[in-house]
Amino acid sequence: MMDADRAAYLKKRYRRSQSILNRREQRFVDAMLAQVDGPLEQIIDLPCGHGRFTPQLRRAASQRLVCADLRLEHINALVGAEDVVGTPIETSQVDLYQRLPFADKEFNLVFNFRFFHHIRDDAHRQHVIAELSRISGRYLIVSYYANSAVHALQKRLWRRTGHTRDLPMISTSELHRCFRQHGCEIVEDRAVLPGIHAHHITLMRRT
Ligand SMILES: C[S@@+](CC[C@H](N)C(=O)[O-])C[C@H]1O[C@@H](n2cnc3c(N)ncnc32)[C@H](O)[C@@H]1O
Repeated sequence: MMDADRAAYLKKRYRRSQSILNRREQRFVDAMLAQVDGPLEQIIDLPCGHGRFTPQLRRAASQRLVCADLRLEHINALVGAEDVVGTPIETSQVDLYQRLPFADKEFNLVFNFRFFHHIRDDAHRQHVIAELSRISGRYLIVSYYANSAVHALQKRLWRRTGHTRDLPMISTSELHRCFRQHGCEIVEDRAVLPGIHAHHITLMRRT
């Protein structure tokens, strides 16, 4: 996939209501990046997908940005679309359900976006939380779908109308508790569209 193909993919994927979400997500990520203390030398974006956040993360990473995903075609699309000038991008094909091929505390920032709502198994979720925490030396930005009364009702209505889409959610307190168990403190947690959409973004710091 070349630059134009990636642009077309992202345009199609993030149209209508998704384009509002996309804009807000990118804005909130910038605001969180602005809150961290000191320069971020090494950043990993995992899973990077088609590189929706690559330009932002590249600006933030002073030495090295690792873009990692299970699917090679996503990584290749991202690399094909990026400018050769800028912080060097390394790529890695990784499976988040395996031990990650990185050292403890290797990255100043571990960025994990729009992945938790695909995890259907609690053991997998615990593994991912442990691994993301292990490879972070300073900060993590993680997004997830938060359980709430509004979304429980929404799910019930969806089911009644034969809607089969039922994405795994976790309560904010439970997600925070799990990360705290792995040495992370919560700096900020915000809903992307409060009361309307379940997506939350959390900034955490390693203690
Ligand atoms: C919804 S996309 C999110 C991509 C990007 N973070 C974003 O927000 O645009 C989910 C990504 O997870 C990747 N993925 C799925 N299972 C994975 C696994 N077990 N390990 C690593 N990446 C995985 C997919 O290939 C896909 O690129």
